[in-house]
Amino acid sequence: MPPPTPLANYQPYRNLPPLAGLCTIEEATKPGLLVEECVRRLKRLHYSFQRLHQILTARITAEPIYELKTGFAHHAYLCAEHVTTLRTRIGEMREPPLGLEEVPHPALEMFFDEILNAPTTEELLQGIYEIALPALASAINTYLADTNRLTDAPSVRVLRWAQLEVGDMLDWGRRATAALITPAQHTAFQPWTKLLGQLLAAAGKVDGTAPVANEWPPRHYSAQPYVYDPIPKRDERFSDPWNQGVNAESFLYNENYPARAKALMMLYKRLREIDVPEMMARIITQTPGQPWGYYRDMSRQLWDEARHAMMGEVGFVALGVDWTKAKITLNWSYRLNTECTPKEAHGVLYFIEQGLMPRTGKRYEFEVAQQSGIPLMATLQDFDWADEVLHAQIGRQWYVPQFRNLQEALHYGDVAWSKILSNWATVKEKGLTQHENWWPAVYEMACRAAHEEPDPAVLAFCETYEGKRADLKDVTEALSG
Ligand SMILES: [Fe+2]
Ligand SMILES: [Fe+2]
Repeated sequence: MPPPTPLANYQPYRNLPPLAGLCTIEEATKPGLLVEECVRRLKRLHYSFQRLHQILTARITAEPIYELKTGFAHHAYLCAEHVTTLRTRIGEMREPPLGLEEVPHPALEMFFDEILNAPTTEELLQGIYEIALPALASAINTYLADTNRLTDAPSVRVLRWAQLEVGDMLDWGRRATAALITPAQHTAFQPWTKLLGQLLAAAGKVDGTAPVANEWPPRHYSAQPYVYDPIPKRDERFSDPWNQGVNAESFLYNENYPARAKALMMLYKRLREIDVPEMMARIITQTPGQPWGYYRDMSRQLWDEARHAMMGEVGFVALGVDWTKAKITLNWSYRLNTECTPKEAHGVLYFIEQGLMPRTGKRYEFEVAQQSGIPLMATLQDFDWADEVLHAQIGRQWYVPQFRNLQEALHYGDVAWSKILSNWATVKEKGLTQHENWWPAVYEMACRAAHEEPDPAVLAFCETYEGKRADLKDVTEALSG
């Protein structure tokens, strides 16, 4: 019989769990990885999360399907958070200068370039959710298996969190690809997905733990440099995207209308916010060279705005209303993305969000939600308000310092917004919309579901956005400053 190992003789005091719960003594006696190797791998994980954040953000605007837009907004934000924690962790590991902007391997760069350039939504989904994220998950698992859980406990903590959220993303991705990608498409994409596999292999996998190659196949979709598509697109449920036939703010701030009907109008305003991710994705994508904190904060705000849209969706469903009958416009994001610079668009966003802070803004919406007697409305508006307070802070941190003072920053946004004042007549003349008044139909639907009689005054509401912008300044007043 071999002599007992020292481990077998070692007993924790009074049977207490050892090592603060990190792992067993036996696990901690394995040497694991040295700092240099940890940093090398963590930098590759960091690079991969950063590229996924870039790709997901860049594809939000022109992706027509609402569920994918909001899904990409969520996952881009999660990736941004993991980039942030990895940067912090790498900075703790004797690593100045950090070299966090360096490309770890040219084949890995090509791999992500190919996905960024994927010409269809289906290929994009396959590249991200069937190839890149599984490879990233596998690299995280390998790291957690290889490193010493006592010596490298801070990295383990960061990566366990990443593992959990990458798992959530993969789960969503599996369901999305199963719903959208046909077997025939799978077959047709094979040459390209094979290329992705070859590029990953040439890079020695995501983490560089496999041998790297000196040669790899040429670029396919990324042979041409990536061109961002700033034109917002929507799926067929958004059936009248230029409609500016119902002035939600006029209704909301008119004290003659009841809170319950106003709640419905607020749900429209929330769902309409899907245009904010479309314009913020553009600002983020076309504003290079900022400190990482900028991208993290802007991605958080972008994700909040996608959530606000989904709150509108949920509220409509809860009230028994088919939201596709409320005509959700893309006019605002379209015009900001095509007629304003990214800085001007950021100015407009900041100017609007500043305007939401006084008593007539988010607090008012929350109070109306409470008065509506619909508990869900109060919850939705309460969190919407809290998020907007955060967004005003994000604007103060990243937008305002580009100017000498707050007044200049606000004026810049006000002027930019005046640039894209009402195109109500233009879109009508072009035949893009008749500005149909969808409000009575939606209001009646909600009344029917609640077994209530419609209020004739509410039913008769017919103010449009002709000559107005959403803060109720009329066209001439805004233009004169
Ligand atoms: Fe919002
Ligand atoms: Fe906001």
